Amino acid sequence: MPRKNLIAGNWKMNNTIPEAVVLAQEISNRMERDWLELVDVAVCPPFVDLKPVKSVFEFDRVDIAVGAQNVYWEPKGAFTGEISIAMIKNIGCAFCIVGHSERRNLFGETNEEVNLKARALIEADITPIICVGESLSVRDVGTYLDFVTAQVRAAYAGMDAADAARTVVAYEPVWAIGTGRTATSEQAQEVCAAIRKVVGELYGQAVAEATTVQYGGSMNAANADELLEKPDVDGGLIGGASLKADAFGAIVAAASK
Ligand code: PGA
Repeated sequence: MPRKNLIAGNWKMNNTIPEAVVLAQEISNRMERDWLELVDVAVCPPFVDLKPVKSVFEFDRVDIAVGAQNVYWEPKGAFTGEISIAMIKNIGCAFCIVGHSERRNLFGETNEEVNLKARALIEADITPIICVGESLSVRDVGTYLDFVTAQVRAAYAGMDAADAARTVVAYEPVWAIGTGRTATSEQAQEVCAAIRKVVGELYGQAVAEATTVQYGGSMNAANADELLEKPDVDGGLIGGASLKADAFGAIVAAASK
C-alpha cells in the first residue's frame, strides 16, 4: 500500500483562543474534501487552543486531526506546569510532536526524554511525531547522517516493531526552521531515505516501508511540490506556513497530487 502523506501544522506559541478559532475555521473552509481523502492532515496548536480548535473541526465534520506540541510522560502527580497524555487524549489528540529542535535546544529536551514521551504516547494510542535534525555546524562538518540516525535510534530505544510502526518521524534540519532557507529536495530525500533505512535495520523492511517520514523546515506553498515529489518524503511538518490558511491549504493540495 502506498504511504499517505501527512501534513501537520505546528503553530508553535502562536494564537490566543479567539485567534485560534478564526484560523481553524479558515483552514476548515479552505480544505477540499477530496484532498482529505488522499492526505492525512493535522493541526498542532498550543495546549489551551486544542479543545476550541478540535470543536471547530468537529462542528464542520472536517477530517482534520489535532495534535499537541509536547507532553509529559508521567501519568499524573506533582509536576507543576506539565500536561499529561491522558489530558491530551481526553481532548481527542491523535498526534503529539516530540523532540522538536526548539524543545531540544531551548528547553534542554534530551534523546532519553524523547524516547520516554514517544513510548508513553504509543501506549495511549497517540501517534508521536518524532522530530530529528542536525544543526548548521553538524551539516557543515558533514556528519549529519550519523547525527540524525543516532537521534532516530535513541528515539526508538526499547520499542518493539509493532510500536515503532505507529510512529511518524519528521526530519527537520535546524538550519532550515523558520529561516526561509529550505533544504533542497535532494537534501531532504537523502536524509529521509537514511531515516527509513535505519528503521529497516531496526525493525525490518515492512515497518520501514510503512513508516511516515516527513520533512520540515520552511516548507511553503512554493516549494511543497518539489519536496513532496521525493519518494521518501511523506509529507511535511509546517511551521510558519501553517499560520495562514491559504498557504497551508496549498501545501495540502500539493500533497494530494
Ligand atoms: P517552519 O517550522 O516551517 O516555520 O520552518 C517548521 C517546524 O519547526 O516544525
